[in-house]
Amino acid sequence: MAKTFYITTPIYYVNDRPHIGHASTTVWADVQARYRRLKGEKTFFLTGLDEHGMKVQQAAEKRGVPPQRHCDEMSIYFKELWKELNIACDDFIRTTEPRHKAVVQKVLSALHAKGAVYKKSYQGWYSKSMEQFVTEKEKVDGRFPAHFGEVIELMEENYFFRMSEHQAWLVDMIRQNPEWIQPENRRNEILGMLQKPLEDLCISRPANRLSWGIPLPFDPDYVTYVWFDALLNYITGAGYGEERFSGNWPADLHLIAKDILTPHAVYWPTMLHAMDVPMPRKILAHGWWLMDREKMSKSLGNVVRPSDYIAKYGADALRYFICRELQPATDTDFTGERFLQRFNADLANDLGNLVNRSLSMLQRFRDGKVPAPSVPAACDDDLTATIRETTEAFRREMEGVSYGRALESLWRLVTRANRYVDENAPWKLAKDSAQAGRLDTVMYWLIQAGAQLIRPLYPVMPETGRKIAEQFNAAQLLEDGRASETLELLPPGHAIGKPSPLFPRVELKK
Ligand code: MSP
Repeated sequence: MAKTFYITTPIYYVNDRPHIGHASTTVWADVQARYRRLKGEKTFFLTGLDEHGMKVQQAAEKRGVPPQRHCDEMSIYFKELWKELNIACDDFIRTTEPRHKAVVQKVLSALHAKGAVYKKSYQGWYSKSMEQFVTEKEKVDGRFPAHFGEVIELMEENYFFRMSEHQAWLVDMIRQNPEWIQPENRRNEILGMLQKPLEDLCISRPANRLSWGIPLPFDPDYVTYVWFDALLNYITGAGYGEERFSGNWPADLHLIAKDILTPHAVYWPTMLHAMDVPMPRKILAHGWWLMDREKMSKSLGNVVRPSDYIAKYGADALRYFICRELQPATDTDFTGERFLQRFNADLANDLGNLVNRSLSMLQRFRDGKVPAPSVPAACDDDLTATIRETTEAFRREMEGVSYGRALESLWRLVTRANRYVDENAPWKLAKDSAQAGRLDTVMYWLIQAGAQLIRPLYPVMPETGRKIAEQFNAAQLLEDGRASETLELLPPGHAIGKPSPLFPRVELKK
């Protein structure tokens, strides 16, 4: 069985409705999955929800509903948003599903039997209102801040995973695989952190304190604590224990943001190593969206709801913005002005105009049929060179999940093609019958340049890609697995479809 390209997103907590941060990682994954499918790679794209733990239990209590019902209701918000955003995942996993509980319990039993999991008592500071252990480091001026509520000394027995045993192996593995954690600044953070001794990982909570979790198979007085449960979703989704597992695993790309890098780059590989399961091939942690330089998050209440943008500007415009602006290595401020600037400049002016005026001119001057070109002039050669160079750069950046740079390359072609129109002024050529041959050549290359945008645009903006393909009457360009290394030229005589504007400009209020 051929190995699939297996890509994942984090599984999101169901203590709140999704915001633009959750939408962004999911869009990034969808773009990569669509890009791979179009190339002809068999792809498996998994996303889903992390439904256990104290926060979810508390969110349900606050609403006065049983936790499972809370999860069921919250899952609808995520599923609906993914539909609105055209997220084409192959599977949607929820950690409360029986298939996942079975995998978690199987792994726990195996690790316990091997002696990789043991029980020990832990003594520390415990915040009663937050229902969690807190550390000395969190003290301000020698005392715990007021929002910690009453903090008591508590001794508790729990189960631990012998993570520390894998430290030397992990450091070695990361050093030998420079691409394994991306981008490089995050890799260095993890290597820096691994200079200090790694502790064993607490993987349980007493069931009388946290009831909303998967019971430990060897001790029903405990439930599995969040990360151990959550990370395993990646193998549950891939079919751990089933025949299809070997076709999916290892994951080719775990996409996350930087907040959850340590669990993915430290807990997860050591868990897999203890289980004798091969390592995922790459972890990519992108930066955060900020609002006024602070992290956008539910607890700060400064979130942007994707549905507002989708309703006003369409899913594709939001997908474009997320891919164009959110950075792998740094954080990015999210502002409405920036969104509108991108919408008007890149989508309405550059792309929308190019496509619309190229097709309209072909309609007007050549009855909507691609003419036969004659000997190319220097600017025709320059345009074709730009097509080759930018589509090649686009491919390279897409493979490396550098969407901002990939789109920048593609927009170099858009800009070049718009300049080509201005340089050649087809409306002037059309007035002079002696220039009929030149007009043929110009219209020929202009249409080819526009058509070359269809395949690269599609993964980022699937609706727009399809609309442009339709207007060019070239739906075949979006068939999966079509060779994309060569220029696919629309032959002379090809009749285009009906042009219509793609992104109506939005007037900015002064
Ligand atoms: N449930 C865990 C993940 C378990 S994965 C095995 C969790 N959930 S979460 O709901 O908090 O989602 C965190 C993820 O949401 C981030 O890693 C990122 O993908 C996305 N984002 C949430 N806020 C974000 C920003 N402000 N900016 C960009 N993405 C962010 O952690």
